[in-house]
Amino acid sequence: MRSYKATMVDPVRLLPREDREAALADAGYNVFNLDSADVFVDLLTDSGTGTMSNDQWAAMFRGDEAYAGSEGFAELEAAAQAVMGFERVVPAHQGRGAENILYGALVSEGDTVLNNAHFDTTRAHVAANGGDPVDCPVEAATDMDSEAPFKGDFSVERGRQVVEAVGEENVPVVVLTITNNSMAGQPVSVENTREVAAFADDIDATFVVDACRFAENAYFVQQREPEFETESVAAIAREQLSYADACVMSGKKDGLVNIGGFVGLREDSELYEQCRQRGILYEGFSTYGGMAGRDLAAFAVGLREAVDPPYVAERVEQVQRLCRALADRGVPVYQPAGGHAVYVDANQALPHVPREEFPGQAFVCELYREGGVRGVELGRFAFPETERRDLVRLALPRRTYGPDHIEHVADTAEAVCERADEISGMEIVAEPSMAELRHFSAELRPLD
Ligand code: F0G
Repeated sequence: MRSYKATMVDPVRLLPREDREAALADAGYNVFNLDSADVFVDLLTDSGTGTMSNDQWAAMFRGDEAYAGSEGFAELEAAAQAVMGFERVVPAHQGRGAENILYGALVSEGDTVLNNAHFDTTRAHVAANGGDPVDCPVEAATDMDSEAPFKGDFSVERGRQVVEAVGEENVPVVVLTITNNSMAGQPVSVENTREVAAFADDIDATFVVDACRFAENAYFVQQREPEFETESVAAIAREQLSYADACVMSGKKDGLVNIGGFVGLREDSELYEQCRQRGILYEGFSTYGGMAGRDLAAFAVGLREAVDPPYVAERVEQVQRLCRALADRGVPVYQPAGGHAVYVDANQALPHVPREEFPGQAFVCELYREGGVRGVELGRFAFPETERRDLVRLALPRRTYGPDHIEHVADTAEAVCERADEISGMEIVAEPSMAELRHFSAELRPLD
């Protein structure tokens, strides 16, 4: 049940089929090029696309736009202390700005960085600083049907193997991404967090948590980790984050805002001073960091709302409802559902489309053509070098869509699967020079 009512609406419309067809062709069969007005249900991302509360809007109106020492910054730092347990905050315009500050301070040429799975911007920032980003997922992560409760966990065994191979002096950072976005949004247990913290300590590495979706992760812990079944989401979040030396936060996820981010740090640490200086250089003075004062204020309120029990329960359960609705209709989905998104396996949905012909992107285009639904391909098209399956992510913005939208998405995906044999693969006709970023702007065409 939703724990809020909507008192502001944003109209959406389903274009006629021939207009959707034309919009898709105009977009070069890349849904990043669609106008949002032409999209009926937009599941491209859960990042910065959610709905703010009236308290957040009220905070925006009070926004203090001072360059230095704004009230919004004090409120944000107080919220980060209360909700996440980090005494110090270096603000940034969004998560990747925070990554630039932190990984630029920690990573040097020739280093190796370990992560349960790097999100693409994290990977890029490690690489940009001369580091080698290495993923250490647990085995269950790549098993689409395993019901294991914490498929997002970090494999310490794999981490130790890498350390043995490269030498511990070359591994300055160990990162734990909660929930694990690149592994189908799967959660990470507190037990695993403690093990990873001990491992990082062992090898004298800084232990960073990518906390973008820390509240959703804490809800999973409450539901699935027996030690925590009677704890509140707020208490679990603080406990899980207490093991980290630093965190990267994107306010666009569990900050419930449209823009913003920060590095969370420990008091009096040398790393805090270093990050503060880098923040001033790249993001703005250390009490705004690329955000307007009103954004800081809304972010402070959003962080506290993210651990509100009815909010976070309904949030994660809506994603689970979408997963069930798809599975019930025979659409092949990664199980169990992640915290922010459902992942459809396009290799199973379109078995006749070879991987070189981008079955994931063909499925994404068909979802739009069929029902005006926008998802995103996270397979061979987005990650040219990947051996991973061709997954299509359907990410739900927070507090935005209702049960009828969920039904519409499930019906649309079912209709696509039912006429799978009519769907052809695709080829790329234009692509940018940076292969890592090709899915944002490449253009394609359907093969006959
Ligand atoms: N870390 C993780 C785990 C993320 O999922 C993201 C963004 C970032 C860092 C970077 O944050 O967007 O504020 O710069 N994920 C979005 C997504 C873009 O669609 O999954 P950002």
